[in-house]
Amino acid sequence: MPHPLAPHLPDAGDPNALVEGVWPASAERVDGALRVGGVDVREVASTHGTPFLLVDETVVRDRARRIREAFEAAFAESAGGSGVDVYYAGKALLTADVARWMRDEGLRIDVCTGGELAIALRAGIAPELIGFHGNNKSPAEIEAGVTAGIGTFIVDAPIEAERISAAAERAGRVQRVRLRISVGVHASTHEFLATSHEDQKFGIPIAEAPAVVARIRELPGLELVGLHTHIGSQIFDHAGFAESARRMLALHAELSGEAPLPELNLGGGFGIAYTAADTPEPIEGIAARVADAVRGAAGELGIAVPRIAIEPGRWIVGPAGVTVYTVGTVKPVQLADGARTYVAVDGGMSDNARPALYGAQYSARLANRASDAEPTLARVAGHHCESGDIVVDAEWLPADVAPGDLLAVAATGAYCHSLASNYNATPRPPVLAVRDGAVRELIRRESIDDVLSRDAGLVQAPADTARDDDETTGAASA
Ligand SMILES: Cc1ncc(COP(=O)(O)O)c(C=O)c1O
Repeated sequence: MPHPLAPHLPDAGDPNALVEGVWPASAERVDGALRVGGVDVREVASTHGTPFLLVDETVVRDRARRIREAFEAAFAESAGGSGVDVYYAGKALLTADVARWMRDEGLRIDVCTGGELAIALRAGIAPELIGFHGNNKSPAEIEAGVTAGIGTFIVDAPIEAERISAAAERAGRVQRVRLRISVGVHASTHEFLATSHEDQKFGIPIAEAPAVVARIRELPGLELVGLHTHIGSQIFDHAGFAESARRMLALHAELSGEAPLPELNLGGGFGIAYTAADTPEPIEGIAARVADAVRGAAGELGIAVPRIAIEPGRWIVGPAGVTVYTVGTVKPVQLADGARTYVAVDGGMSDNARPALYGAQYSARLANRASDAEPTLARVAGHHCESGDIVVDAEWLPADVAPGDLLAVAATGAYCHSLASNYNATPRPPVLAVRDGAVRELIRRESIDDVLSRDAGLVQAPADTARDDDETTGAASA
């Protein structure tokens, strides 16, 4: 029977269970405590404090390789394809080491700001492996990408084509570009909606694409290598990808009649399990169905299958991460439809904005111990001054959850660190990597001094402080 306060939540079951697919593949309980990648999170907490984001490097690498191999097999020449390039969408989680893991596993890197570009370049990623997105790249960002010699820019507006071409001419280069198309397929989790019009900021509508492509082909600084689309994120239904692929293939066929278009980028968005209710299809099945749709459409149009690119982010890093917090307060609230226990932790919307931004659901477990206590309906809240500061809307936790317990939240590898903020002047948690039982920092914990370091009123403090101290202490100044 669903609880009236959480109708979407499956029955309680064992509140200690680590549901397969939700928790990292390496997660286990040893003597009751949670281990990830062979390391006990209690030890990590005592060395690094809480909260922290712990990412299992082996899981990330395995998933990067797995999705690349799945799409390579589906689009192999032997399967009637022309090969695949996999770009890791850095917006999900980008640190220098994460970028290097992707390169080592044969992936390219997709960035969408000058900051992400700088991380990838300084991590030593070969510029030609980088694709640069963004719906409003600044002149400085364009200049930085062109002079670094990045592989491709994804043009998002006609004026951007002019700007990139001018920058390339100044640098004496011809810049490879793709054109982002708003394809009219909107996908979200289990459904998709196909429209002919788009009301969104990204890309060029299909109907306008031929004119923009003609202009790009005239510009001396540009070489158009293909079209691009991205229909959304956290998608389980392959039918949305297939519909978008068919529409893109039709446009690709029309535009490659005039000049070659070797590539077609179908974007990212492959869904993962955040709770036991999420049951994504194995990626090999999705790759095979997308490839079927592409081959089928290419056959009907009488064209060769272009080289395909994809841009997964969440699918690779999301399931590899857990965030561990310390419980501070536990407050039962009696409501007309039953009781709910508010479990407040030492982080919140500053380290995981997704529940507040999108109503995203997560799963939580006691991490320092298992418990025989009855399950109770809990809501995990953060410590911020905001009633929407919820980390996990509804979860079954053992009823004896208490202050001082460690609480782990699963599937926080993607879009948590990258969306983190300093709300309430909160220092951001570290990003730690575990590999073969050893933990190391990818990103160190922020200190309060880090947070205050941009406050000019404090940086210039010595003189002011002296004056204030004189005022408050009544000390005489000469
Ligand atoms: C253009 C583009 N490509 C790829 C991605 C990655 O999506 P996901 O992390 O859901 O795979 C995004 C996400 O917003 C995107 O905007």
